[in-house]
Amino acid sequence: MRSLLVSAMVAAFLVMLTVVVQGGTASADNPPHEAGAGATADSCAGCHRAHTGQAAELLKSTQPALCYSCHGTGAAGSDLDVENGANDDLSTALKGGGFTNALIDTTDSSLPSDVGGSTIGVTSAAGATSAHTVDGTAQTVWGNGAAGSGVGSSSFNLACGTCHDPHGNGKYRILRPSPPGSGGSGTSVTDEVTKDYDTTDYFNVAYLGSSISNWCAECHTRYLAASGSEDTPLAGDSDFTYRHRSNGSGSAPTCIKCHASHGSNASMGTNSDAVPWPGGAAATSGANSRLLKMDNRGICQKCHEK
Ligand code: HEC
Ligand code: HEC
Ligand code: HEC
Ligand code: HEC
Ligand code: HEC
Ligand code: HEC
Repeated sequence: MRSLLVSAMVAAFLVMLTVVVQGGTASADNPPHEAGAGATADSCAGCHRAHTGQAAELLKSTQPALCYSCHGTGAAGSDLDVENGANDDLSTALKGGGFTNALIDTTDSSLPSDVGGSTIGVTSAAGATSAHTVDGTAQTVWGNGAAGSGVGSSSFNLACGTCHDPHGNGKYRILRPSPPGSGGSGTSVTDEVTKDYDTTDYFNVAYLGSSISNWCAECHTRYLAASGSEDTPLAGDSDFTYRHRSNGSGSAPTCIKCHASHGSNASMGTNSDAVPWPGGAAATSGANSRLLKMDNRGICQKCHEK
């Protein structure tokens, strides 16, 4: 009897919890990215076709078009327009920047400080000058693998679903702990308590701690650098020899303090634009912004003020 009462109370509490969680911005994955979508899930049809698939895995289209059908220009399926780097509903910039256009305030003049604070930064979208490639074509996965193994394989197929789990997994931004093909050891990034897609804490992404650096390093293994890496060479590696601290522990920055995850509208001056790729290959002029959140090396000045 008593245990029945307890389970009734637990059940009532869970119902309340569910109501709270569904009531807006609280954590838990939103449909259609919902693990355990239930016996009569409607979400599958947002992406899959049983007989008329246009891409492998019975998908209605290839990526990124599949994702842009809700997360792209003018799409009604989600407020998060990652193609243009904007939260359409709130008219704010998205944390990840954008793949085709982005709204990052890359000329923000305050020192030392956030990049762009909570404001939209620029009033109209500026063209992205660098972005992660999301069409599944072969790319060089910079710094992947053990010390001394070269700059990284040049045949890594990257798409939206390589980083994100389209079926939901309860992790921060449904990031896959082990992106397929990365060879990493797995990194779970704990979800936010309350989902917040604007750039209020763009530079001080404290809630993620060091886990986001570990996650980027699932693919970019040797970019993860601990204290002392600026003075101690990585043994046996002639490419990534001395490295800026990046592991997010103590005073070390995380990767996303300097880089936007998706794409940036930052522009590069003469010196910054001339930086070659790891291994020495020349980069295309005007395309060297490398997901940095500030123009030129403005990102360095945010902390160092030289
Ligand atoms: C937001 C788009 C999206 C939605 C919604 C979605 N899927 Fe998928 N699904 C994908 C993508 C992309 C892949 C390929 C991913 C990969 O290669 O691992 C995939 C792969 C699969 C696979 C094969 C690989 C695997 O992970 O097992 C199955 C089975 C599957 N989906 C079933 C479903 C079912 C059932 C639903 C509804 C409950 C659903 N999907 C909803 C995008 C989606
Ligand atoms: C290289 C890995 C990677 C790829 C590829 C990628 N994302 Fe993301 N995405 C992230 C990370 C990391 C974040 C969290 C950004 C942050 O908080 O700064 C994110 C955030 C998001 C968000 C939340 C909005 C935001 O800007 O924070 C959405 C929506 C999203 N991604 C969708 C997509 C879609 C759609 C694609 C393909 C067109 C894609 N992502 C490709 C890593 C990736
Ligand atoms: C049928 C519409 C639809 C499609 C297709 C779709 N999404 Fe989403 N996605 C949503 C909605 C709705 C949300 C919740 C946010 C909102 O309300 O706008 C969301 C949220 C997200 C988030 C944020 C999750 C979080 O934890 O904050 C990511 C990341 C994301 N989608 C990635 C993708 C990727 C990758 C694809 C393609 C494989 C994709 N989406 C395709 C509708 C869609
Ligand atoms: C302190 C700022 C800063 C941090 C932290 C940082 N980066 Fe970078 N990153 C840069 C700059 C600046 C460049 C441009 C190339 C250069 O100057 O070496 C760059 C370039 C890159 C490139 C392009 C290839 C190249 O080397 O030019 C990759 C990939 C990359 N970073 C990944 C990462 C990852 C992954 C992390 C976290 C483990 C990280 N970065 C942390 C500043 C940073
Ligand atoms: C699933 C593997 C994967 C993950 C995870 C990943 N990347 Fe990448 N990244 C790549 C590949 C492949 C490229 C090279 C091709 C491209 O996309 O332009 C790349 C390119 C880059 C570049 C160079 C961009 C340019 O100008 O071409 C930077 C900077 C970078 N990544 C930073 C990051 C950061 C920061 C994170 C974590 C938020 C991250 N990456 C997570 C696979 C990954
Ligand atoms: C988020 C803040 C932050 C950013 C952005 C940043 N740094 Fe640093 N930098 C640090 C910290 C923290 C250390 C480590 C100091 C220590 O060892 O305690 C450091 C160390 C260094 C060192 C080694 C010497 C020293 O002071 O210990 C150099 C050189 C350096 N940074 C240059 C740069 C350059 C160049 C950029 C831009 C590409 C940059 N930093 C961006 C925070 C930052």
